[in-house]
Amino acid sequence: MIAVLPSLLAASTVKSVGAVVAVLTLIGFVVYVVVNIRSGRDEIGSEIELAPNRKPYYPDEVLEGPRLTRALSTGLVLLAISALGLPLYWLNEPSRQDGAIAQFDATFVERGSLLFAPTADGGYNCAGCHGPGGTGGVAPPFTLTGAEGQFVAAVTWKAPAINTVLLRFSEEEVRDVLVYGRPGSPMPAWGALGGGPLTSQQIDELIAYLGSIQLTSTEAKTQSEEALRVQLGLEPGALIDYTDPAVGKAIFNLGLATGTAGGSYSCARCHTKGASYRDGDVSPANADLSNYIDFTDGSGANGFALTSGLVPRQFLTLDALIQFLRSGSKYGVLYGQRGVGSGRMPGLGDNPNTPEADDGMFTDGMLRAAACYESSLEGDVPPLGCKGSLPIPPAPQSGTLTMTGER
Ligand code: HEC
Ligand code: HEC
Repeated sequence: MIAVLPSLLAASTVKSVGAVVAVLTLIGFVVYVVVNIRSGRDEIGSEIELAPNRKPYYPDEVLEGPRLTRALSTGLVLLAISALGLPLYWLNEPSRQDGAIAQFDATFVERGSLLFAPTADGGYNCAGCHGPGGTGGVAPPFTLTGAEGQFVAAVTWKAPAINTVLLRFSEEEVRDVLVYGRPGSPMPAWGALGGGPLTSQQIDELIAYLGSIQLTSTEAKTQSEEALRVQLGLEPGALIDYTDPAVGKAIFNLGLATGTAGGSYSCARCHTKGASYRDGDVSPANADLSNYIDFTDGSGANGFALTSGLVPRQFLTLDALIQFLRSGSKYGVLYGQRGVGSGRMPGLGDNPNTPEADDGMFTDGMLRAAACYESSLEGDVPPLGCKGSLPIPPAPQSGTLTMTGER
């Protein structure tokens, strides 16, 4: 913010100088018109006698003397002003442009925060579901309907924290979610293209606002590990044994039962049907939810089923699977053996919006434990060599997917 101030000031100085020049010009013009009208005389006599071109003018001494000097000096001063003014303007131009950009960004963030605000303040109440500042919350009762469209129950659906959403999804991927919503969940479509009320510029403003409230990678890693300790019943700061399968299972369902960060660190919210509301309020309390909750981990929802035999094993090595969890999927890009990404699988270990590696929400230990647990769900094929304590694989140099196995 402090670094941005000088350039903002520069922009506003240029603006105020411009305003002063405009006002002076206007005043000068008015004075000129008034003086001209007042000095105008009524026509006297005949045109032949008093025609201006017949009036005797100054003698040569005057014309070539002080008058000439005055005209030349004025010219020199004006020339000096242009000669100095243009380079000065040019020198100031980069900071003026930076200032304009910073001001644009600040305006977008400000407008985005107004869109994010509660309905009472004229906003679209993102905070009503996603929590104040997007820290995670619950969506108000979401209606589950039966095969004939009849009411089954109202449930409270966890709304993931979105103060970390740009650590796991690219801006483009977040734009897709905002424009089209998450059909089948309480998240509505907001963009005009998805049938919502917002223009594409308003969507950009929301993304700018989201950008301004993101946790750092370190903060998110600390928060996710603390949530994991709570879930495992460990003391704050205690060592976590990432080779323990129970740790993998806890990561898969991280924060859903406790509500930490709206369950945004879990895999289950996407890969297990009903995981986002199985631990919440249900009304009526005795509703028959057997078709809606208590499915096995990874039985599939918005993200594919990961369980036995339902999907071909995409990843031939543990490293390849870890790498996929780290970077997520990208629209139209191959993952694993034959997977084509839609951009909806988040990159949990690497922020896709930065060139740096490993600046996501999960530590290497978490990625490894999640990968081992995930591969154990595949059932009819053996887990990818996760027994015992394997060393944590080194972080890859780039965030790109590499094809492994036979071609
Ligand atoms: C009625 C409640 C509700 C409102 C209002 C709402 N959301 Fe959501 N949103 C959700 C839920 C629930 C999900 C998760 C859906 C799922 O389980 O896949 C979600 C998902 C998201 C995601 C994807 C996050 C992720 O990691 O999967 C983003 C981004 C998002 N919402 C942004 C917004 C913004 C911005 C607004 C305001 C314009 C908004 N939401 C308003 C309920 C809501
Ligand atoms: C926001 C929703 C979401 C979350 C959270 C999520 N996934 Fe996914 N995942 C998907 C989607 C959607 C796909 C399908 C690929 C695509 O559409 O790009 C997928 C694909 C996968 C695949 C490849 C499946 C195949 O056979 O093609 C694996 C493995 C996987 N996810 C594991 C995980 C694990 C483990 C976690 C938690 C650490 C996780 N996912 C978290 C949405 C999610």
